[in-house]
Amino acid sequence: MTTGQIQSGSIEELAQTVSDAEKRETVHAALSAGDAVFTWDYDKGQRAALNKLYEKAKGAMWNAETDIDWSIGGQIDMARDPGNPFAILGATDEGPFGKLNDEERATMGHAGLAWTLSQFMHGEQGALICTAKIVESVPWIDAKYYAATQVMDEARHVEVFSKYLTDKVEWQFPINIHLRSLLDDVLADARWDMTYLGMQIMIEGLALAAFGFQYQMSPDPLLKQITRYVMADEARHVAFGVLSLQEAYRDMDEHEIRERQEFCYEAALRMRDRFLQQEVWETLGMPVRECTEIMLRNPIQLEFRKVLFSKIVPNLKKLGLLDAGGGWLRRKFGELGVLEYEDWEDTGAEYERMQLDQPLPA
Ligand SMILES: [Fe+2]
Ligand SMILES: [Fe+2]
Repeated sequence: MTTGQIQSGSIEELAQTVSDAEKRETVHAALSAGDAVFTWDYDKGQRAALNKLYEKAKGAMWNAETDIDWSIGGQIDMARDPGNPFAILGATDEGPFGKLNDEERATMGHAGLAWTLSQFMHGEQGALICTAKIVESVPWIDAKYYAATQVMDEARHVEVFSKYLTDKVEWQFPINIHLRSLLDDVLADARWDMTYLGMQIMIEGLALAAFGFQYQMSPDPLLKQITRYVMADEARHVAFGVLSLQEAYRDMDEHEIRERQEFCYEAALRMRDRFLQQEVWETLGMPVRECTEIMLRNPIQLEFRKVLFSKIVPNLKKLGLLDAGGGWLRRKFGELGVLEYEDWEDTGAEYERMQLDQPLPA
């Protein structure tokens, strides 16, 4: 079976966007289930790896207003340039895409950048809220301490993307409905490890790969700088998930583990084929269903979306979720064609190299 044949819903479902009424709303309420848990065991450093991460995080705080040089870059012109690497990535002449004139193509480049960074911004707010929930729900003091630093990190990430979008892109998109429903589902689960699994492992794992891509390809020195700062934090966040869940999953029975495996598979499918720039086509008056179908099958897009799993697969392997229960998830990921990443370095080991005091990654 090839990667293109399994898909997380009908084309109609995939082509959906938030309604016009929802676009006008300034708040969205999601049900957050589960207990807020106190611990009376204040013994710091019981979980040495988490404690180390916490100490690192305290010294790694940066300031989006003063550490970033906002006078450089900004890229509406670059985004409108057909030679922009990101424009080339999504370029196709199929169907409605072939009918665009130069001006419309340039607008699509601008909108595509605004869409991507808008989804990063919305996803960052998802991380802010999920991690605040982890502060409440995780039973270990070292994890509560660390999660508190992540809440601050995520606030900065929302802030920095919002500022860049407002000042430098001058265009902002509403949240992709599928990203919103994934965040809603993660929050609605009462089990504390599921917030971690959904956010730190799946969503942040995907984001870490996407940021790496953006860091390498962006022609804008300002966006490169921002991405570098955000990535250093994200690497710690994903490591936080790996280091915490390793302990949580050590003693789980097969049934509980299977539930986690199924969740990972569903989330992977949803993230792979539902974040397609549907809102861009809608805004530009293009037929969203047809564009969705084309982009879903586009070979360059398929390859790109596969690379987004390069952080998730090794981390799930490290957690034992790839091979537990007779290798159920290994089989499923094999069908998705993403097992080639299984032996890549996991983020629990890799994050230290990605910190700001280390040389820039290649
Ligand atoms: Fe973040
Ligand atoms: Fe994060």
